[in-house]
Amino acid sequence: MEEYRGICRAHTNIALIKYWGKRDDELILPMNSNLSLTLDRFYSETQVRFSKDIVEDCFQLDGEWQDNSEVEKISRFVDLFRQLAQVDLACEVISYNHVPTAAGLASSASAFAALAGACNQALRLDLDPLALSRLARRGSGSATRSIFGGFVEWEKGSGDHDSQAVPFDDANWDVGMVVLTLNTKKKAISSRRGMKHTVATSPFYQLWPQVSEEKLLEMKAAIKARDLDWMGEIAESHAMLMHATTLSANPAFTYLEAESLKAIEAVKGLRQQGYKAYFTMDAGPNVKILCPYSQSQAIIDALAPEFGADRLIASRPGPGIQYLEALP
Ligand code: PMV
Repeated sequence: MEEYRGICRAHTNIALIKYWGKRDDELILPMNSNLSLTLDRFYSETQVRFSKDIVEDCFQLDGEWQDNSEVEKISRFVDLFRQLAQVDLACEVISYNHVPTAAGLASSASAFAALAGACNQALRLDLDPLALSRLARRGSGSATRSIFGGFVEWEKGSGDHDSQAVPFDDANWDVGMVVLTLNTKKKAISSRRGMKHTVATSPFYQLWPQVSEEKLLEMKAAIKARDLDWMGEIAESHAMLMHATTLSANPAFTYLEAESLKAIEAVKGLRQQGYKAYFTMDAGPNVKILCPYSQSQAIIDALAPEFGADRLIASRPGPGIQYLEALP
């Protein structure tokens, strides 16, 4: 029987220099190069099976079969791999997200990176990680970076052939993140819709590409210097620049919630107590705190009375994709 199977794990990542806005919607080419840290604690594990026995594409997430609109997204993505391999078989995708889905924790990043890896393995394409990151990009922009571990840059490139992630620093030093989950409900405005609307209507957006490229250069210097205070200042500033573009869109919108603002103040308070703690936020209300990993437990203890210990999770830097023998 003709059957091809692949299984892959990919970790999520949090951007310190954000990707916000596309210059090509179809190919998912970003307006600016950007940079993230891959996290150890949050990941997706995905198995894909191509077989004559499978009548049509199907997709199970966390034990539940998904409806047509979800299957379509997967099918379109898997088509890229089917074309490359010249295979015309339907597939079954089974995936587990060890990430709260759609809560601004970028589960799409780990999900599409894991699916890309699983397809690569199943169809024996033998793609190198750069090529794989270009394909992961077509599922979700942030997935581009989840192919690699540590600090990863997504170079905006000049087109499909070179808009790809490259590892920047292995993050094998005392750095980490504390994720403060304030709201795990599915967000009302997806990052895809949010960025499209912002690019189209915010008069401030025209400043974004240039300012972001400058901040990226500075961030790379700060990482190389392993200067967490410097990195944190740039990360906070760039996150707020992103949120300022949504506040200046028309109609305006924001991902910040009342609790996010409280958390930001709390992070600033931590600094006054001598911690190296800096916030960043994505297309959702949750707050991620960049810190030395060695301080993460003390930071959790300090924030727990106000926000609840069960909503605080520390993570070390994570690895790149891993091919698995079987779903654990
Ligand atoms: O990958 P997408 O389409 O969900 O976009 C992610 C956008 C941000 O998370 C807000 C920023 C980033 O660089 O990850």
